[in-house]
Amino acid sequence: MKEVSEGKCRFHVPDVAKPEEGEVFYNPVMEMNRDISIGVYSAYAGLRNFCDLLTASGIRAVRVAKEVGLPVTACDRAAEAVELAKKNAEANGVEIDFFKQDANEFLARRFFDALDLDPFGTPVPFLDLAVQNTRRLLAVTATDTAPLCGVYPRVSWRRYGSRATKVEALHEFGLRNLVGYCVRAGARYDVGLRPLLCYYSDHYYRAYFESGKGAGRADTVLEQVGHYGKLGPVWLGKLWDKGFCETVLEEVRRRDFARAVKLLERIVGEADGPAWYRDFHKACSRAGTNPPKFEKFLEGLKKEGFFAARTHFSLTGFRTDASDEKIGEALMRPGGGDS
Ligand SMILES: C[S@@+](CC[C@H](N)C(=O)[O-])C[C@H]1O[C@@H](n2cnc3c(N)ncnc32)[C@H](O)[C@@H]1O
Repeated sequence: MKEVSEGKCRFHVPDVAKPEEGEVFYNPVMEMNRDISIGVYSAYAGLRNFCDLLTASGIRAVRVAKEVGLPVTACDRAAEAVELAKKNAEANGVEIDFFKQDANEFLARRFFDALDLDPFGTPVPFLDLAVQNTRRLLAVTATDTAPLCGVYPRVSWRRYGSRATKVEALHEFGLRNLVGYCVRAGARYDVGLRPLLCYYSDHYYRAYFESGKGAGRADTVLEQVGHYGKLGPVWLGKLWDKGFCETVLEEVRRRDFARAVKLLERIVGEADGPAWYRDFHKACSRAGTNPPKFEKFLEGLKKEGFFAARTHFSLTGFRTDASDEKIGEALMRPGGGDS
């Protein structure tokens, strides 16, 4: 074991080179994922309790208890995980209700205001109960990005019932595929899941949904699930509630979560833009021109009255309401569009 610190807490975690080699799972790369969750659970008003459904070392559960101050319940089927998580809770001076149980058995009889679903790979095996038993705020991580973004189309079809193939907005498609699946899972039980904050980072997708019971709510969100050409179904609506994302940004800023601040700044910048980002280099090759300065090109589009912003999905991605033709014209102008 080794000691690590995250947020205001210190943890004992397995001392291994790769997360999957430890007796209990701990992935330091997911620190920003947990930092943002601290921001989200603090920003969302009125939560009375929180469940960390797949807790592993207890790192998120303990952080939510200590840094947000919510009453926390946590579950894992692995005895070693629950034992370590209990020690981590004790060492940080927080009380958490721990359960060593299969997550679906555990959830079958329990309801929570906020629930965090952070599995190995796909969230599918846990989603049906998670959507039914979360009253306000549901968080879902998926690390099976390859099927979702169309690298493995047959897996996407089998697992998510969605046709997928690699498109220019690769990870936006993957995230919208996941969000669309979650929204359809909720709708089956008359639960409306409204995306509040969704993102891609470090080879995982993450989506926070506001959850509300009612056929009308379910219908409203389901109307925003549809096809992208011959692909899908995927989520076609907004991936972000900008006001909520701004509040989360304030929270993570206040707590000095530097990586989370950078990601959320970019998301707030692109939140008002249309769906489906474009790739700058692909746009240049479509226009048959050498790439000008990326920022200058975006400024040029803005000067013409278009929406134009970088996207968090890709270093070379941008979001705009300008047509391909207008983008081509902006790229061809001397000075890279800003002249
Ligand atoms: C990716 S880890 C969770 C990581 C954790 N949330 C964190 O931030 O470090 C997934 C955990 O789910 C647990 N798990 C997998 N299948 C389960 C099931 N059916 N019921 C309960 N726990 C399960 C594993 O034992 C593992 O600890």
